Amino acid sequence: MSLLRQLADGNFLSGEELAANAGLTRARVSQVLKDAETAGLALERIRGRGYRLLEPPNFLDPAAFKARLATLDAERGIATPVTIEVVDEIDSTSSELMRRMPRRDVHGVVLAAEWQTAGRGRRGRTWTGVFGGSLTFSLGWRFEQGAGFLAGLSLAVGVGVARALEAEGFAKVALKWPNDLIHRHLKFGGILIELNGDALGPSATVIGVGLNVRLPASARKDIPQPVTDLATIAGKKAPAIDRNRLLARLVAELSDVLRRYASEGFPPFAAEWQHRHAYQGKVVRLLLPDGATVTGKVAGVDASGALVLADGPRRARFLSGEISLRRA
Ligand code: BTN
Repeated sequence: MSLLRQLADGNFLSGEELAANAGLTRARVSQVLKDAETAGLALERIRGRGYRLLEPPNFLDPAAFKARLATLDAERGIATPVTIEVVDEIDSTSSELMRRMPRRDVHGVVLAAEWQTAGRGRRGRTWTGVFGGSLTFSLGWRFEQGAGFLAGLSLAVGVGVARALEAEGFAKVALKWPNDLIHRHLKFGGILIELNGDALGPSATVIGVGLNVRLPASARKDIPQPVTDLATIAGKKAPAIDRNRLLARLVAELSDVLRRYASEGFPPFAAEWQHRHAYQGKVVRLLLPDGATVTGKVAGVDASGALVLADGPRRARFLSGEISLRRA
């Protein structure tokens, strides 16, 4: 059993016991525990007794995920064609599926990690998570079509994530173009889509989703913008968030969205996406990838997911960039 999972019940185990059960050296045990503290886990060490986790997380568990997914499939009358893998630590779940792609078919593979040491965000940014306090996973999916058809995929995935969270009882989830998940203008999740393939298809995609579930203040200070988490959105009186249940709902919802996208593209999601857009009708500044900025009123998104800005009667569409509210 992995070293940290041995401590899942909150009881003490000695360094020797941990090492023997995990098949690791004592030095490696010390290193993993030090890394776990860096990743946000509170650990108590007592000479003569060993180590224990002060607040053991509800670990991601393939059996709990599968059981919940089976229930959701029975309710929907659909089988969700995925396999699940859970790891405690990895550089990035998306990097791992991208690495596997040339050798193996990753269609329908869900790879979830308790902690990513090199989580990646959009536009080359890093994605910060904490052990047990984030939900980070990637899903491989194959499409017959090419990159042009997939332009709106990340927006459709945003709709799928929002639907899943609302089905699990979270308050109305808003989106920020192209695919930030926000609540009251604070970001709590993001989506990163990467693809491989010919321009005309087929394409193999890796859909990475990162959600802040319960982010301690120590982790927030590493993030260069104000953020929120699902625990805050749910409120103090809400029960603890079950990440296995949440992951099952997300995967079920995403597989429905991806199958629909494969046959119809972005158009069936456009109206809902726009309805959820927190910046719809607002005057924004758009920072373009080349550093130039454009201002305009958000008219919406077109059938391929491009942002449409209005400047008087003129309309311009943009495929990438970063929007912010323009201060009056
Ligand atoms: C963003 O908003 O910038 C996108 C963040 C995407 C983060 C997820 S976490 C799982 C997957 N693995 C990664 O390294 N990134 C994505």
